[in-house]
Amino acid sequence: MDRLKNKVVLITGAGRGIGKACAIKAAEEGADVIISDVERNIDSVPYDLSRTSQLDDTEKVCKRLGVNVLKKHADVTKVEEVSALVQDAVDRFGRIDVLINNAGIGAPAGKPTHDYSSDEWDILLNVNLSGPWRVIKCVAPIMLKQQVGSIINIASTAGLLGYKHFAGYVASKHGLVGLTKSAALDYAMDNIRVNAICPGPVYDDEFVDGSMTKVVADSLGILLGEQEEIDLQSVAMNTVVSPTDVAEATIWLGSDESSRVTGTTITVDAGYSAK
Ligand SMILES: NC(=O)c1ccc[n+]([C@@H]2O[C@H](COP(=O)([O-])OP(=O)(O)OC[C@H]3O[C@@H](n4cnc5c(N)ncnc54)[C@H](O)[C@@H]3O)[C@@H](O)[C@H]2O)c1
Repeated sequence: MDRLKNKVVLITGAGRGIGKACAIKAAEEGADVIISDVERNIDSVPYDLSRTSQLDDTEKVCKRLGVNVLKKHADVTKVEEVSALVQDAVDRFGRIDVLINNAGIGAPAGKPTHDYSSDEWDILLNVNLSGPWRVIKCVAPIMLKQQVGSIINIASTAGLLGYKHFAGYVASKHGLVGLTKSAALDYAMDNIRVNAICPGPVYDDEFVDGSMTKVVADSLGILLGEQEEIDLQSVAMNTVVSPTDVAEATIWLGSDESSRVTGTTITVDAGYSAK
């Protein structure tokens, strides 16, 4: 359990769900962690984002594992907040070895492409695509100085496939896969690796407060149970993917075990996209 020992890992969107699972896994593997979240709602996003108490809980669980934790608010749509987060991280730990670009939104969605308002379209791209770019903009100079680093973008099978009535989300995640490949080329000679993980539908998990499947169900106007049934039928392994399954993949990509892996996408989808 020390695959990330002596490493410093920054995770955005760590208040709940996949980001919280990533923070806990990284701490279990011995990393010091910087955990960050928006901690308030955003206009045009039709559901509640993480509250301060949720990020506090992530901090509590990680500290119990005996690692150092820096917790800080940052909205990834605001470059000045991202810049302050990265500065605080460097002041505290002196380095950032692994960046997990996880913060993201699953809606506005549930309508044909032309029915998105400009604000709805813009917020999806601003959080899901420009957000990871802003964090890379602030973290890459640190990793270039170190001449080592691993950047992990949490994309989606929506970065590889189309989903009816989810054009904004799909476009943002396809963009994130493209950003991953180009950044991997930019930094390959500096020993900075950039990869994406593409989860399929991830089951809501009470332990980490994950609720994205509910967001998807609400967007489509169906019940959570119906959405879970549809997801299960589409998954080749007929089993659910958990936030921890996704977090496990970040540990491998963040560790030296994957030191020759860059510019790739890894699906964690129980075979969802294999068809
Ligand atoms: N759950 C799924 O089925 C699924 C599948 C594929 C990909 N993903 C991706 O995984 C990532 C995590 O999703 P999740 O399922 O844990 O959802 P979630 O809503 O439970 O967690 C997302 C976190 O990101 C935070 N966040 C949102 N906007 C932010 C902003 N502007 N700045 C900082 N933080 C912000 C939220 O507050 C929340 O804590 C997202 O990028 C999502 O697109 C999720």
